[in-house]
Amino acid sequence: MSQIVDWAGWLQRWDGQQAGYLPDREEQFVLMLDIVARLVGEPARFVDLACGPGSISARAARTFPSAEIVGVDLDPFLLEIARQSVPGARFAEADLRSDGWDDVLGEGQVDAVCSATALHWLDPADLSTLAQTLARRIRPGGVFLNADTMRLGPTEVPRLDALAVDLRNQIWSDSHAAGVEDWQTWWDAAAGEPAFTALLAERERRFADRHKGRDITLPDTLESFHKAGFTEVAILGQVADKHLFAAIC
Ligand SMILES: C[S@@+](CC[C@H](N)C(=O)[O-])C[C@H]1O[C@@H](n2cnc3c(N)ncnc32)[C@H](O)[C@@H]1O
Repeated sequence: MSQIVDWAGWLQRWDGQQAGYLPDREEQFVLMLDIVARLVGEPARFVDLACGPGSISARAARTFPSAEIVGVDLDPFLLEIARQSVPGARFAEADLRSDGWDDVLGEGQVDAVCSATALHWLDPADLSTLAQTLARRIRPGGVFLNADTMRLGPTEVPRLDALAVDLRNQIWSDSHAAGVEDWQTWWDAAAGEPAFTALLAERERRFADRHKGRDITLPDTLESFHKAGFTEVAILGQVADKHLFAAIC
C-alpha cells in the first residue's frame, strides 16, 4: 500500500487544511518548540499528544534530533500517515480518555508534551483526568503546551465568550474564502482514495462513541492543571478563543 500512496503529500495537504483552523499554525509550532528548548533544553523524551498525522512530531524531530519522540493518537488512518511520512519518531495508538493510555509511552517520565487543535475533542472531565496523568508523566520542571480552542466561558463571561466564538468562526471562514481547504473537503478526498478504505472504516468504528459534552473552557483548563499539581500554568498567546496554554510540572 505504501508504494502507491503519496503519504508525505497527504501530510502536506493536512498541514494546509489545519492552517485554516489555527491562526499562524506554523509560527505556533516554532514558538512551542522554542518554549520547550528554553524551559528544558533539548528534551530526552518528547510527546506529541493527539498527534494526528504527525505534524508536531515532524518538526520536533528536526528541531531536537537526539530526542526520543513519541506521537500518540487514536486514529489509525492519521497514524499511518505519520508512520509513513515522519522519520525519527515512534507513533502509538491510545485513547486519551482511557485509563492507562500512557502505558504506550513506556517506562519513566518525559520532558515535554505538546498538543495542537485536539484536546477540545475531550469532555472537561476527561481533560481533568488527562491533566493528572500528565502531572505524573512529566518530570519536575518539564512542560506541557497546548495550542487549541478553549472557550472563554459561556457562564463566566457570556458576552465575551460569544464574541470570541464569532471572531474564531470569522477567521475560519475568511481562510476558507481565501482558498484554504476545509476539514470536510480533506476527509472527502481521503474517502475517495481506495487504499484508505479499511483504515477509514476502523477510524469510524473507534470514534463511534465520541460523545460531546460541553466545550472545554479556559477556566476548565487552568483549574484542571492547577489541581493536578502543575506548579505554574498560564496563557502565552491568544487569538479569539484559541489559546497557547503552558503548564510547568
Ligand atoms: C484536528 S486533529 C489535530 C492533529 C494534530 N495535533 C495537528 O495539529 O495536526 C485532532 C486529533 O485528535 C485526535 N483525538 C481526538 N480524540 C482523541 C482521543 N480520545 N484519543 C487520542 N486521540 C484523539 C484525533 O484522532 C485527531 O488526530
